[in-house]
Amino acid sequence: MIPDRSFGADSAPNFGPMNKVLVLGAGGQIGTELVAELRAQRGGDMVWAADLRADALTAPCVALDATNATAVRALVKREGIREVYQLVAMLSATGEKMPEKAWALNMDTLFIVLDMAKEGLLDRVFWPSSIAAFGPNTPRLGTPQYTVMDPTTVYGVSKLSGELWCQYYRQKFGVDVRSLRYPGLISWKTPPGGGTTDYAIDIFHAARRDGRYTSFLGAETRLPMMHMEDAIRATLQLMAAPKESLNVHTSYNVAAVDFTPAELAAAIAQRMPGFAIDYAPDFRQAIADSWPQRIDDAEARRDWGWSPRYDLDALVRHDGPHLALRGRAALGICHDHFGERSTWRNALRSGSRGGFGTQSRRKNQALNRAAQRRRTLVLRAGNRGRRRIHDHGFEGPA
Ligand SMILES: NC(=O)c1ccc[n+]([C@@H]2O[C@H](COP(=O)([O-])OP(=O)(O)OC[C@H]3O[C@@H](n4cnc5c(N)ncnc54)[C@H](O)[C@@H]3O)[C@@H](O)[C@H]2O)c1
Repeated sequence: MIPDRSFGADSAPNFGPMNKVLVLGAGGQIGTELVAELRAQRGGDMVWAADLRADALTAPCVALDATNATAVRALVKREGIREVYQLVAMLSATGEKMPEKAWALNMDTLFIVLDMAKEGLLDRVFWPSSIAAFGPNTPRLGTPQYTVMDPTTVYGVSKLSGELWCQYYRQKFGVDVRSLRYPGLISWKTPPGGGTTDYAIDIFHAARRDGRYTSFLGAETRLPMMHMEDAIRATLQLMAAPKESLNVHTSYNVAAVDFTPAELAAAIAQRMPGFAIDYAPDFRQAIADSWPQRIDDAEARRDWGWSPRYDLDALVRHDGPHLALRGRAALGICHDHFGERSTWRNALRSGSRGGFGTQSRRKNQALNRAAQRRRTLVLRAGNRGRRRIHDHGFEGPA
């Protein structure tokens, strides 16, 4: 499958209301790419990025603790923000090391946003669930939208609970909150955040660095996965869908591709002769074994027209060159995503750089440059709710 990589303002017919947006957890794996695409679509000043630290963010941005309800509310009110993407969470593998903290972070950050929507401060909310909401008694192949859900991790428990709270807020208070059960997401732009599917990102970096990889999941561990571009497209498509067309108010199943570490390694080895993998499963194996292998996303396809673009071949072909960019040596022969045969290093030199299509990327770069020419005030909200203004050399619409 060769993905049609056109995406964004050039090609999408409907982006929903052009609200001012806040992305919480904007510096993470998903947030980094979601902010870039939202800004490409809506304009840089329409999208606020917030994370614990603002140094990796671009303006308008803010260093903000998303558990600090006072600070989040103040920002939303001051900026006239009407839509929030709440991405802050402690992921599955990290969450098992500190379950109480994971539960508190994952639930508190959701309630803060749901309550703002309940009070009429927000028109629309996005909050991601995960395949971790399923469990060992869930059917593992063709996992349906509605089925047994008995998660074994605190992360999964928080996602299943969060889904039900989203549905409750919609039914009781009319809150327009939308959600996807993301599978493992694959991207090269930011390091993974401590999840059980992280091996599918680590493997590319190790291939580039060492020519080999030791997988923390066993060879035959099949899991649902998705390229980040597909995930961002699914998110924005769901958020733009007419409210009346949505029939799932917990969280939509979405699927793209599924593979095992052995299958991913074989696909990489096709483009990088000599690449080797071995296996040393750790505590994450038990987590992966409790998750589905292949998801049925019929409701997402029916209600808002979901269709993925990246299969395993397209994913390896697309991400290999980007990861080679960070290395010193070309990794071997590949076909870049324009179908030309080249070394991975040459693919980079020739400018096949990925992202969301040339036009959107240029637009985004221009927006970022424009934003950086101005000055922004970065609001730091301390733990005690005290605010200090720091001049970071940029200007936001404050
Ligand atoms: N990445 C995946 O494969 C995947 C799969 C399923 C679901 N999800 C969900 O998507 C969401 C985002 O995932 P991600 O992979 O981008 O996670 P990530 O860990 O890469 O990013 C989370 C971000 O939240 C920030 N953060 C943490 N605590 C914060 C706080 N108190 N205040 C403000 N910011 C804080 C972190 O600094 C980080 O930048 C999460 O809810 C996750 O459960 C992700």
